[in-house]
Amino acid sequence: MAATDRLSADAEGIAQAARLLQAGDLVSFPTETVYGLGAVATDDHAVARIFAAKGRPTFNPLIVHVASSEAAKEFAEFPRIADDLARAFWPGPLTLVVKLKETAGISALVTAGLNTVAVRVPDHASAQSLLRAVERPIAAPSANPSGRISPTNADHVLDGLRGRIAAVLDDGPCGVGLESTIVDATASPRLLRPGGLPQEAIEAVTGPLGPPLDQAAGGAAHKPNAPGQLESHYAPVAQVRMNATSATGDEVLLGFGGTPGADLDLSPAGDTVQAAANLFGMLHQLDSLRRPIAVAPVPESGLGRAINDRLRRAAAPRN
Ligand code: TXA
Ligand code: MG
Repeated sequence: MAATDRLSADAEGIAQAARLLQAGDLVSFPTETVYGLGAVATDDHAVARIFAAKGRPTFNPLIVHVASSEAAKEFAEFPRIADDLARAFWPGPLTLVVKLKETAGISALVTAGLNTVAVRVPDHASAQSLLRAVERPIAAPSANPSGRISPTNADHVLDGLRGRIAAVLDDGPCGVGLESTIVDATASPRLLRPGGLPQEAIEAVTGPLGPPLDQAAGGAAHKPNAPGQLESHYAPVAQVRMNATSATGDEVLLGFGGTPGADLDLSPAGDTVQAAANLFGMLHQLDSLRRPIAVAPVPESGLGRAINDRLRRAAAPRN
């Protein structure tokens, strides 16, 4: 493919991004969580190119992005609990897995042939403008090569996918910095992936969330939750060691809450929201040094759960 354009997030850039998507091209766009790699979700050929561009080994199901819950209901069925969650948290960093309306034309590659679909309404002005301009649902995984850290700015996208996608719509860094929280809302709600919306906030609406079905059935605690959640997902190139109090050997130290001797600190004030916003950017930065990365302990509450989930995957043996 030819060079990848960097489009600015003004009216002209958004119109151009929309035209490229409608023509079946791939465009990376910002959301409040991470940058997505978008294709029109009803276009089999365009969706297939997402997997080629990312170098994904398997056809994992993708999240469909829309501008409103009304747009989502054109291709998905919302039971009461999904409606309650959408009303409480959309637009925002929450993905709902609901029943697919099979006649609505969503590509089977998007759902990997499942009878459910993952959908979300991003809370980001440029993403909203783009979705309204395209007037189609947009399938988008995170805009990184398969198995690498998710991009939280346009430079990360270009570093990983330059020459493989038509354009990136550049609207600066992402505010949340972690992928969306995924909840299966087809029946009693279950947490499939911790993410940018804290579990506590969701449970204030739903009551306690169940575990994913494979765990409820007695599966191993670290089995993939959402299909395609490879253990070593989100991995930087360098080795990662968690719960470190200091660096040893050649390691660089990523601190939290003012860790003494840290090379970078996710949040000197010990705030998990700030740490989430910094996590992938700092991992990208330290990764470029090509030295092993030691990470200080992060508390298992609020966005700390999702941060620790991503760090566990980064630290897991590679496959
Ligand atoms: O914040 C985000 O969610 C970002 C931005 C771009 O929206 N997207 C993202 O997409 O993280 P991706 O492809 O990296 O992760 C999608 C996750 C996968 O773990 C996949 O297995 C799950 O969503 N998923 C998609 N459809 C599903 C379904 N029908 N049932 C269960 N899980 C599903
Ligand atoms: Mg991803």
